[in-house]
Amino acid sequence: MNRKRKKTVKKRMILWLSMIALLSITVYFISEISKPVQESLPNTQEPEQEDYEPKQDEKNRNIQSEFENNVNERTVVANPEAKAVLVNPQNMLPDRYVPDDLVYPNVRFTFEEKIEKRMMRAEAAEALEKLFAAADQDGLPLAGVSAYRSNERQKQLFDDYVQKDGLEKAQTYSAYLGTSEHETGLAIDVAGADGSCAVSDCFDNKPEAKWLADNAHRFGFIIRYPKGKEEITGYKYEPWHLRYVGSDIAEEIQEREITLEEYYDAVPVSN
Ligand code: DAL
Ligand code: ZN
Repeated sequence: MNRKRKKTVKKRMILWLSMIALLSITVYFISEISKPVQESLPNTQEPEQEDYEPKQDEKNRNIQSEFENNVNERTVVANPEAKAVLVNPQNMLPDRYVPDDLVYPNVRFTFEEKIEKRMMRAEAAEALEKLFAAADQDGLPLAGVSAYRSNERQKQLFDDYVQKDGLEKAQTYSAYLGTSEHETGLAIDVAGADGSCAVSDCFDNKPEAKWLADNAHRFGFIIRYPKGKEEITGYKYEPWHLRYVGSDIAEEIQEREITLEEYYDAVPVSN
């Protein structure tokens, strides 16, 4: 073989080797690309049932739907407009009940706006004005915090509390749609004029709380959720929640140290 031919053979071999290398690389990449896609996807399968721990939101949804299904175990009150109507977790207002004689009581509130939560039914509003005037005279001026609530507002509040604290805790201090006295226009949350400790446990230490406990009945109001009666009312102690029931019933409830449930000899709410 002459020199020129040797050189040509060498060139061809290099060319062949390069082509084989290029072909191998191409085959390798094609095989990688065509591997099943799901290998690289995150595992989206539900965990095994026995390891499965529902998240808080899901727990709330479950309890909430159970709670809503219990609606059939509640009685719809026949006399929602009666001033002594019993509204509690077992006795609910008719669907979309709105009192027809809501007015703005002429008393101090912790806010200035003329809005829904400033309203009460006419007879309760008049009694509240007398109660506030008496508290003023005794040197313990009061302020309204929250009176009437529409069904929508009560639902929104309750749902917000469930989100914040979970259903089990929320239902010890907030009422489910249709079961709040605030929806009757006969209830109001009250604080001292400076608004401190409004709707908070520390209100219990205020002189205004003692004044209300001692005097509210004289104007037809009761402390609706007293201390030590949580099992009966279904709610924790609320020294700020006044409920208008009229003077006769309020006097009797005060005298006998009972709740509205006991007055009606109703089944305790926690049963
Ligand atoms: N805080 C009382 C129970 C209500 O929500 O009506
Ligand atoms: Zn209240």
